[in-house]
Amino acid sequence: MNNIHVFPTIDELSAFFAQKLAELSHSVPEGKQASIALSGGSTPKGIFQYISQYAADSIHWDNIRLFWGDERCVPPEHEESNYKMTLDNLMVNIPLESSNIFRIKGENAPMEEAERYSSLVTGLLPKHKDTPAFDMVLLGLGEDGHTASIFPPDINLFDSKSLFAATQNPYTGQKRITATGRIINNARSVFLLVTGSSKAEMVARILKKQEGYEKLPASRVMPESKNLFWLLDGQAAELL
Ligand code: 6PG
Repeated sequence: MNNIHVFPTIDELSAFFAQKLAELSHSVPEGKQASIALSGGSTPKGIFQYISQYAADSIHWDNIRLFWGDERCVPPEHEESNYKMTLDNLMVNIPLESSNIFRIKGENAPMEEAERYSSLVTGLLPKHKDTPAFDMVLLGLGEDGHTASIFPPDINLFDSKSLFAATQNPYTGQKRITATGRIINNARSVFLLVTGSSKAEMVARILKKQEGYEKLPASRVMPESKNLFWLLDGQAAELL
């Protein structure tokens, strides 16, 4: 299940991921598009910047539709918005039609937006076992083992029948919208992008199945497709 790739630098990790993205964008059947759910936080910034600078021309952007795996419940211009992070570090640099961008509206009431986005994704994506199937889901890893916005106290969201749910960051109370395990584990491929020594302990706990790892949300990322890629830099992998 776990394809674990360790890269000496973030640029080499980014180059590998960009290649996968380019391959996906050029493998889309005529008239179809690949649907990708992006992760948020800070890790993707460097990867998006690399793609913008070195790989944008290798990707067939017209064949790509961008979604998000989670969002903070803030307006799109807010500094903590995952949409804004993506806009500033990637979308301003690539020829992606706005009609191919489907942001989670953090400014909306959380429960209603979770339902709206679930319906939107249901209407736009092909199904696998009656569940929308993303071609690619990007995820990050928090130092507490959270992924997307599924934090340890709400790990049961991996068993939710919903596709997207309203939740919150338990440490700050910030409201969040997150993909649930139902849609994460239904994706054709899942990429966990983890960099930095601050994540090394959590990476080791999960990948080495150390005591209590089952309580960590990221340990529940097990796509039925078996296409799970952990992309780590040397620091994040230093305890493996
Ligand atoms: C978010 C992310 C979240 C993130 C991890 C890692 O909205 O914050 O989706 O799951 O991927 O918290 O965050 P960093 O990349 O900032 O370490």
